Amino acid sequence: MAHVTVIGAQWGDEGKGKVVDWLASRADVVVRFQGGHNAGHTLVIDGKTIKLSLLPSGIVRPHTLSVIGNGVVVDPWALIEEIERVRAQDIPVSPETLLIAESAPLILPVHGALDRARELERGAGKIGTTGRGIGPAYEDKVARRGVRLCDLAEPPILREKVDHLLSHHNALLRGLGAAEIAPAEVLARLEEVTPRILPYAGAAWERLDALRRAGKRILFEGAQGVMLDVDHGTYPYVTSSNTCAAQAATGSGMPAAATGFVLGITKAYTTRVGSGPFPTEQDNEIGRRLGERGREFGTVTGRKRRCGWFDAVMVRQAVRTAGIDGIALTKLDVLDGLEELRICTGYRLNGEVINRLPAGQMAQASVEPVYETLDGWSESTQGARSWADLPANAVKYSRRIEELIGAPIALLSTSPERDDTILMRDPFEG
Ligand code: GDP
Ligand code: IMO
Ligand code: MG
Repeated sequence: MAHVTVIGAQWGDEGKGKVVDWLASRADVVVRFQGGHNAGHTLVIDGKTIKLSLLPSGIVRPHTLSVIGNGVVVDPWALIEEIERVRAQDIPVSPETLLIAESAPLILPVHGALDRARELERGAGKIGTTGRGIGPAYEDKVARRGVRLCDLAEPPILREKVDHLLSHHNALLRGLGAAEIAPAEVLARLEEVTPRILPYAGAAWERLDALRRAGKRILFEGAQGVMLDVDHGTYPYVTSSNTCAAQAATGSGMPAAATGFVLGITKAYTTRVGSGPFPTEQDNEIGRRLGERGREFGTVTGRKRRCGWFDAVMVRQAVRTAGIDGIALTKLDVLDGLEELRICTGYRLNGEVINRLPAGQMAQASVEPVYETLDGWSESTQGARSWADLPANAVKYSRRIEELIGAPIALLSTSPERDDTILMRDPFEG
């Protein structure tokens, strides 16, 4: 199994960026296959922090090709800004190192406007989106009125598409009491950005196909997490794409069999940003402590992340629905010093104990976690680089997680730093 697909096994922010960056030393290509600049992936290399949203986490390695696949929604202005930002951190980005699928749908200013206007209209029932226009851009793709990267090279088509798209959306914006957007304004902005983005565009699927046939190793980098998947997550409090491993194939133009070992990135506790059910949430001293020690603030919006105990029911479900072969357990160090730890092993619903997250919104909101309590450890695991360095209780906690979720730990992360990582089983070796 020469390829690896990394996905989030919870509600995002599990540490995918760190793990992808670490694994990228063993890969030739890193490919993003869904999501957009709602993602925020943090890399820490020798004390230097790099925050990425749209750029694949392979971008920091000059000999690794980075690909933004067709399944990603691309905001051209956000991308250019991000490229400038990472260049200022001495990371070179050029068409030699970055390729964007020409068929990728674009996020236009109208998408952000709609996203924010709708959230405002939902009021207390808001989803808590990142406001980046992700949902509306995916809707346009499926509605077959989306503007794609390749359209920038065909001005007559582009004009037609922008006109069509805005005649549809301006009616909506009027209804929501938001300002309308003039097609000429969007076209002028697109014209300006075209020469800066088009040099990166190409047939990503063809390049990936050639690399695969040449025996190169591909690392697929997911964004968000399985519980934010539009089909398998806590709908409607989800993102608008499939975050499961199967999307790595569709979102890059590769055969399903090419996505290789599926590594689910899993935090040693649970966090969530935005609204929606969260059975093990600790809106108390424990939650505050996890948030402080884990520095749980959103990379993209700066919002405080909600924190709670490890939910084995949810991760087990993610393992099954997304086909996770092994996990990378991250942020174990955040639990250092806690006297007792809890793991959710089931949900109580209407007097019965169940072992899955129900689909209904009312049921999801009313499940009560059934906990198992384990002893914590007082020693530090921070920066540990071998399994033998871990306190006995940290080993017990990790083993219990493996048992409950039904997947082995392939990697363990003990700090934000790239090299504070313990390899148990090389995902590239299957
Ligand atoms: P992603 O969206 O899955 O890439 O995760 P984020 O980067 O949004 O959030 C994860 C945060 O945890 C980042 O600030 C990382 O630097 C940090 N992090 C990753 N792994 C570890 C770890 O093992 N221990 C600690 N303490 N922090 C970590
Ligand atoms: P990474 O890749 C955590 C959440 C938002 C909101 C919901 C829908 O860094 O793990 P959207 O803007 O996508 O329509 O918002 O999804 N969300 C994330 N939460 N990590 C992310 O990405 C997220 N991307 C979106 O907070 O609840
Ligand atoms: Mg993140």
